[in-house]
Amino acid sequence: MTFFIKTFGCQMNVSDSEKIRHLLLEKGLRPAPEAEADLIVINSCAVRARPQEKIFSYAGRFPRPKKVIVAGCVAQSEKRGIFSRRARVDYVVGTHQFHRIGEIVDEIRSGRYPGAAVGFSRRWQELVPGAGARDSSVTAYLSIMEGCDNFCSYCIVPFTRGREKHRPLAAILGEAEALAAAGFPEVVLLGQNVNHWRDPGSGEGFPSLLRRLSRLPIHWIRFITSYPGYHDPELVEVMAAGRNLARHIHFPAQSGSTRLLRRMNRAYTRSQYLGIVSAFRRAMPEMKFSSDFIVGFPGESERDFALTLSLLEQVGYESVFSFVYSPRPRTKAAAWAADVPAALAKERLLALQEKQAAIQLKNNLGLVGSTLEVLVSESHPRKKGEKIGRTESYRVVNFPSTAPVGRFTKVHITGAGPHSLRGEECRD
Ligand code: SAH
Ligand code: SF4
Ligand code: F3S
Repeated sequence: MTFFIKTFGCQMNVSDSEKIRHLLLEKGLRPAPEAEADLIVINSCAVRARPQEKIFSYAGRFPRPKKVIVAGCVAQSEKRGIFSRRARVDYVVGTHQFHRIGEIVDEIRSGRYPGAAVGFSRRWQELVPGAGARDSSVTAYLSIMEGCDNFCSYCIVPFTRGREKHRPLAAILGEAEALAAAGFPEVVLLGQNVNHWRDPGSGEGFPSLLRRLSRLPIHWIRFITSYPGYHDPELVEVMAAGRNLARHIHFPAQSGSTRLLRRMNRAYTRSQYLGIVSAFRRAMPEMKFSSDFIVGFPGESERDFALTLSLLEQVGYESVFSFVYSPRPRTKAAAWAADVPAALAKERLLALQEKQAAIQLKNNLGLVGSTLEVLVSESHPRKKGEKIGRTESYRVVNFPSTAPVGRFTKVHITGAGPHSLRGEECRD
């Protein structure tokens, strides 16, 4: 039997797909291109309505007798309900059940489908993808926790990933050491609230974990996502002391208005958020930030939105992901009147994106003439001899180079746009 995995959603899904690939390879299945595979595994995202719908239209592309498994967050959220939608799906596998994918393949092979495995589990499921199962030889994802107890009023994730559970320290260190030994230049720690991680045995917290990891020979260590409401000042000290802890933090604000943050059930105010940003910058003037924002949330006034725009300006983010609010089942806000008309929400989204593009252009133009350390992350898909790389703050740099993917190099910045930099490799 051959398989193909299609991944939607966030880095945690990318990482889960690596684990699923690992298990399928172990089971003796062989990878195949999308058009030829006998088994299609769709790792799905439920965070907004539109991406969720994409999953069902994608599943519909595969004629029988191919088998289709929907795994991940839509599987967890919709469960057997997926079958009543007449979707082209043979098996539904939730976020806490994909370690059973081997048995599920056996069930499908012996004709026991449709079926669903969607129970939640409180236990951490220890699964480390082997080298052949990882997507990238440059960036390795390392899960440290899963789940969320915050219940932001718009968010479905607590229902798709369950309550927080934390991976034991020894297992994290073991995988990190193996990744360092395998020569990964970049490791990204993953979890919905990484900065709330605690060792289940000793209670040791996230700053201390980072301090340990900073001693490993890994060039850049990153982590996503940090929840501002869980900020621990010790993190600032640890980052300042650890030179391989990349000077960039994804720190989703969601809104610049404290009134709206309260309605969103985010446990911080605008001024607390800005206080944390300042604390990082006092200790590390080179520290950079990125964020997520939602516009058109129920009750968002012109004044609230203006506060979001002014937060963009005040922080000067490196990059921002922005979304129009999408009501999600079982969330608190889904019951509230959607009082921001769709056209106005779209207008606000475009205004936000335009403002952010101007901020990025200004930031990027300020770098022209400087020399930056760049991790060569891929060859340009169309331009021969061109490489695409990332800076420590995760800016994209395009430059001609013969350096192999996965290598660090110094690039002299010669040009800048809002979304990327251009440069020449320094030869010395
Ligand atoms: N764990 C991450 C969020 C994961 S969801 C965190 O807490 O930051 C990724 C982003 O999707 C969120 O940061 C939010 O900006 C956006 N998002 C979540 N639910 C949404 C909804 N109902 N409508 C629009 N955007 C949403
Ligand atoms: Fe969703 Fe909020 Fe949890 Fe992030 S912190 S996953 S936005 S509920
Ligand atoms: Fe989507 Fe699930 Fe991630 S809903 S954003 S894939 S945690």
